[in-house]
Amino acid sequence: MDPDQIDHDLKAVLISEDQIQAKIRELAAAVEKDYDGRDVLLVGVLKGAVMVMADFARALDRHVEMDWVAYSSYGSGTQSSGVVRILKDLDTDITGRDVLIVEDIIDTGLTLSWLVANLRSRGAASVEICTLLRKPEAVKMAVSVKYVGFDIPDEFVVGYGLDYGEKYRNLRCVGTLAPHVYSDAG
Ligand code: IMP
Ligand code: MG
Repeated sequence: MDPDQIDHDLKAVLISEDQIQAKIRELAAAVEKDYDGRDVLLVGVLKGAVMVMADFARALDRHVEMDWVAYSSYGSGTQSSGVVRILKDLDTDITGRDVLIVEDIIDTGLTLSWLVANLRSRGAASVEICTLLRKPEAVKMAVSVKYVGFDIPDEFVVGYGLDYGEKYRNLRCVGTLAPHVYSDAG
């Protein structure tokens, strides 16, 4: 087996590249309609949302600005800790701005709930969330998520920005990992 072929590490493809791209166009169309005539600041959550942001922003047929935040919540494992540490804050003053958070996945929503409260407290005119993927646990979230690409089962997934130990972000699809990947990792 060629260790450079990352798709050999997948157990199953959950969402194909075509399905992702079609869904992103759908989400972009909805956002264009809802934000007609308003400035939008897209806020991407590093690093997972890089791929979604790149495709989603280009699917929008209008002006947008982009900014990024980074915080740690996961480490290299597969369980959410809910502990938030800011690694990179916004460069933009969001007072009076319509902010749309762009996310790869919402699992518990712990980190995202914290981010929404944080951005609202800085005087944003509105703060909404657009996520490509959502796990079942996220329905318990206090904040509502306006734009959801796919509701997926409660499984650990990689690809299209999502990592396992910083790998697999560059896969074009979203999939589950084969058992040998976890056992090799020890
Ligand atoms: P939450 O705070 O539990 O919603 O965790 C959100 C973050 O955990 C996401 O932005 C991802 O970075 C990471 N995460 C959650 N589920 C997965 C997964 O299945 N694969 C990879 N990363 C995940
Ligand atoms: Mg993320």
